Amino acid sequence: MLSFHLAVKEDFEAVNGQILAQLHSNVDLVENIGHYIIEAGGKRLRPLLVLLVANSLKTTSRAHIDLAVIIEFIHTATLLHDDVVDLSELRRNRPTANAKWGNAPSVLVGDFLYSRAFQMMVRLGSMDVMDILSEATNIIAEGEVLQLVNAGDANTTEQRYLDVINYKTAKLFEAAAEIGAIAANASREQRLAFKKFGHHLGMAFQLMDDILDYTGDMEKLGKNIGDDLSEGKPTLPLIYAMQNSSLEQKNLIAHAITDKTAENFLHIANIVQSSGALKYCKTMADKQIESALEALTALPDSVYKTELCKLARFSVSRSF
Ligand code: IPE
Ligand code: IPE
Ligand code: MG
Ligand code: MG
Repeated sequence: MLSFHLAVKEDFEAVNGQILAQLHSNVDLVENIGHYIIEAGGKRLRPLLVLLVANSLKTTSRAHIDLAVIIEFIHTATLLHDDVVDLSELRRNRPTANAKWGNAPSVLVGDFLYSRAFQMMVRLGSMDVMDILSEATNIIAEGEVLQLVNAGDANTTEQRYLDVINYKTAKLFEAAAEIGAIAANASREQRLAFKKFGHHLGMAFQLMDDILDYTGDMEKLGKNIGDDLSEGKPTLPLIYAMQNSSLEQKNLIAHAITDKTAENFLHIANIVQSSGALKYCKTMADKQIESALEALTALPDSVYKTELCKLARFSVSRSF
């Protein structure tokens, strides 16, 4: 457990208990796949964000527990769908649900998790929360589609890449932080500050994820590296490397993107490294974290705020 888990240990345990309770279904396959992916672990960063934000504002209701469960269900649903789309075979150190059960059950159980999250939301009855999470879910879907459109396109610009990671990843971090604030009856200013924090944290998180797809240790990461290249994903490491390497190297990367092949992965990973792309991406991620931390300055100090800062720094120093 990391320090930010320990800071909200009781709440975190309540969330994990509620996750299991809410996975209930009368259909065995739904429960089997649901438990399989959820019990594989995962860092639970988005629910932690909800809990830490709510506690930092001295929440008095228990709504943040359900909100943390809801956000993890939405996240897990996106992972089930994402692994089908990305043809991924390893997640959380286990074969992906699609590798084990096939695409159709993975997509359908993803739908089950999405809709369970919305059932729970309706029970909570906050129109603000429904507004934020329905918007976030909708934008994530757009982000994944936009990424699909970019896949195989070696001319994808840095801006288009940034749009994709904002939609597919940052939106959910942003929503997590904002609903944590709502659960604690935050003022409008506090809500906006946490929203901003979540946005920058999410941007940094995905930048780091895309770096790790070239440099990560598969055992620590629990996912295969090189998946982005084999899907022809023009992520920032490749976009920068193409602009800052020889014509021959640029062409090699462009062809790998167009052909959606990782057969030259090691060679391309070396070019990415020597072009300075990884440093460029890491600097950009660090800047996002600086902006995230800046957003917190006017908020009340507490042990929870300190842990939020640690969580932010962890997201750009992590190896998993
Ligand atoms: C994976 O998210 C999907 C991305 C946005 C990169 P996490 O790295 O938070 O996944 P888990 O929940 O810890 O497995
Ligand atoms: C994040 O993108 C996926 C979602 C936000 C759904 P990736 O495709 O990079 O995530 P991983 O690497 O499969 O976890
Ligand atoms: Mg993926
Ligand atoms: Mg990835």
